[in-house]
Amino acid sequence: MDWGKKNRLSRLIQKDGHCLFLPIDHGYFLGPTSKLERPGETIKPLLPYCDGIFVTRGVLRSCIEPNVTVPIILRVSGGTSIVGKDLANEGITTAMRDAVRLNVAAVGLSIFVGTDYEHQTLLNLSKVVDEAEEYGIPVMAVTAVGKELEKRDARYLALCCRIAAELGVSVVKTYWCENFEKVVDGCPVPVVMAGGPKVDTELEVLEFVYDGMQKGAIGVNLGRNVWQSEHPIAMIKALRAIIHENATPKEANEILKSVKKK
Ligand code: 5RP
Repeated sequence: MDWGKKNRLSRLIQKDGHCLFLPIDHGYFLGPTSKLERPGETIKPLLPYCDGIFVTRGVLRSCIEPNVTVPIILRVSGGTSIVGKDLANEGITTAMRDAVRLNVAAVGLSIFVGTDYEHQTLLNLSKVVDEAEEYGIPVMAVTAVGKELEKRDARYLALCCRIAAELGVSVVKTYWCENFEKVVDGCPVPVVMAGGPKVDTELEVLEFVYDGMQKGAIGVNLGRNVWQSEHPIAMIKALRAIIHENATPKEANEILKSVKKK
């Protein structure tokens, strides 16, 4: 691996081999999502606790100061909306030249396996990997399910992650699911977990992140369950404890409660 790619990956994945990425890219198909109406304000107090931010070039240029030290993972796919015909019909939205100009640590894009747009989105991924390799930029694949959240089971997610790895990505972002070890074990590159729509309790999030870490995930790329929380700083600190300090869900919940009180 070239020095540049190694350097970028080492900024994203910490010395313990783990990472906490915070995605704020949701507006690219959801518009002004709740609590992300002003992404710059949402992210500001959370920046000290992130190992990477997943963001589009528009929000990066308009809402994030260029002196930010947190590494950037640039979303480079899109072209659909929540009110449009099919969320899976994504194209590549951002040229690799612009990713280089933005000095990003990685790029990320969605694939929609099993949909009418499987072929198109997998070829998007291959093209982005080819171009990113030219510049030593790691690629993170997002195994997207669109509106079909029920698709999130081990058999399907293992298929998606393995295909992304075969096409050459450095990291795969997927959903946590029951029997998550089947997803990680079949994937020869590191796996990070997304959260999906906000769940009912904070403890549920801590429990699934802990379970996923025990089963081999290297971290999270988890958004709504952090910044839509009533206590985003407490939540991100509790998650950091699981990811970087091997805290149990109970220990992380204690951290959450004590930060909430402050
Ligand atoms: C949206 C994304 C998000 O980055 C991903 O879904 C993670 O965010 P969340 O934890 O809110 O699901 O790729 O397409």
